[in-house]
Amino acid sequence: MQDLEGKTAVVTGAASGMGFAFADCFADEGMNVVLADIEEKSLREAGARIEAAGGTVLLVPTDVSDEASMDHLGVATRECFGAAHVVCLNAGVAGGGGPMETLTTNDWKWGLDVNLWGVIHGIRVFLAGLKAQNEGHLVITASVAGLTSYPGTGPYNASKHAAVTIAETLHAELAEERSAVGVSCLCPGRVATRIHESDRNRPKELIDEDAPLPDEEARKILSGVFARGKPPAEVAELVLKAVVEEQFWIETDEVFREPIRARHESIENATEPPARGNILAPYFS
Ligand SMILES: NC(=O)c1ccc[n+]([C@@H]2O[C@H](COP(=O)([O-])OP(=O)(O)OC[C@H]3O[C@@H](n4cnc5c(N)ncnc54)[C@H](O)[C@@H]3O)[C@@H](O)[C@H]2O)c1
Repeated sequence: MQDLEGKTAVVTGAASGMGFAFADCFADEGMNVVLADIEEKSLREAGARIEAAGGTVLLVPTDVSDEASMDHLGVATRECFGAAHVVCLNAGVAGGGGPMETLTTNDWKWGLDVNLWGVIHGIRVFLAGLKAQNEGHLVITASVAGLTSYPGTGPYNASKHAAVTIAETLHAELAEERSAVGVSCLCPGRVATRIHESDRNRPKELIDEDAPLPDEEARKILSGVFARGKPPAEVAELVLKAVVEEQFWIETDEVFREPIRARHESIENATEPPARGNILAPYFS
């Protein structure tokens, strides 16, 4: 999709990290931007920053895991700007972590509700409109966790593998229909955002009473590790390029090429799956 000026971009998870950077970048291209996020205060601050730089913004407090909330995002977008053109289904959380036998139903539910159902609801709400106008582009934020299977992050891996196959399936359907609507699958490696602090948005009803308290030391270490990630604005430039050039895969980090290749090789040769350590291991080997 090349002609972005005056069109509308919707971004979920837009109050922070990559979502904010995408909205900021599309606003710089002259697009109206709809910022959706569950964190209302950060959402207002994000909107104010983009408006201060001259952007046209609509803020829609949204819980992407909630069907009615996502329906409202679609209605609010249409009422304000008439139509959506670029839709970034980006909101996500780290989800419950730990070895499988320690994970609770609530751990799985939280990760899948946001990372998987957020994408499903987003496609249901926006795809028909994009196809009817035969113009637009969907960007689904998956992860390298959707292309590998490192231990300790089961719900996150499951949700991101699902996001990858949803994006690929949609791409196949649109190609068969010769639709002008495009789709991209963003698989970031490590990006300097607040993803390691996603607990801040975990719904109270999905917190287990006997859950261990957050390990502050571990959090500090993770904070330092993510701070050394790619700046979100650089990922936004890759996303913009993918929308304009209709590119499906968007990858950010070279270090994951080998783990992804090794996984594919094990599938082709029916050998042992390769991933060991954790998803940050490729940065330290
Ligand atoms: N940061 C990384 O290294 C990395 C790597 C791969 C993939 N990702 C993915 O990138 C996406 C963006 O995350 P980020 O890294 O910018 O983290 P972030 O925490 O900075 O931003 C995520 C945003 O999603 C919002 N959010 C959380 N739950 C929500 C809900 N139920 N409804 C609406 N909004 C909700 C948060 O409030 C936040 O603003 C996520 O899908 C994440 O899984 C991140």
